[in-house]
Amino acid sequence: MSLGKILITPSILSADFGHLQQEVDSVASADWIQLDVMDGHFVPNISFGVPVVRGIKTKLPLDVHLMVSNPADRIDEFLALKVHQITFHAEVVTGDAERRRLIAQIHKGGTKAGIAINPETPLAAVSGVLSEVDLLLVMSVHPGFGGQKFIDAVLEKVREARQRYPDLMIQMDGGVDTETAPKCIAAGADNLVAGNSVFGVKDRKKAIQDLRCA
Ligand code: DX5
Repeated sequence: MSLGKILITPSILSADFGHLQQEVDSVASADWIQLDVMDGHFVPNISFGVPVVRGIKTKLPLDVHLMVSNPADRIDEFLALKVHQITFHAEVVTGDAERRRLIAQIHKGGTKAGIAINPETPLAAVSGVLSEVDLLLVMSVHPGFGGQKFIDAVLEKVREARQRYPDLMIQMDGGVDTETAPKCIAAGADNLVAGNSVFGVKDRKKAIQDLRCA
């Protein structure tokens, strides 16, 4: 549900994992925290799983972005951590029936469900289930790594999604900084994931504020 305000969601993938709790504490002024769970199969990188997420202490809602080939096998272990949101990728499930099953599995655990589309995936690929999810994640990079260049071409998808789903929370993720954030907001995104533009600077509070006011 779009709240009308712009949510800033730092992604810990760009954080210093040798001091992860301090890194999480340094972004306490954000709205959510995103946890990029990667399996080295759906994306060419392995990040972390439940043991790391379980160790994170924060009052902020946890937003789990599953970049994995088998989300059905991973969802329950994250539901047990009482995370706020679990997002899976449309590309790893064929057809709306399976997507609906994943959405129901997440909702049954009392957690919000999101669906993500990669830059090359058209909005039409998920239009059959967008009225059933709590969030659409439009990737503005090819998933797998932080610090990549923002792909402007995805903005058209965001404009189309905002126009067709005025109340849906639309999240953008990848290459979001003070230069690209205004484009995301103008297109209709209301939840911005930021890795390097927050964890890559010393003053995280200011970085978050600059994105919020972009
Ligand atoms: C990429 C991840 C993104 C990434 C964002 O696969 O899903 O969340 O960490 O990092 P930046 O903001 O540096 O592109």
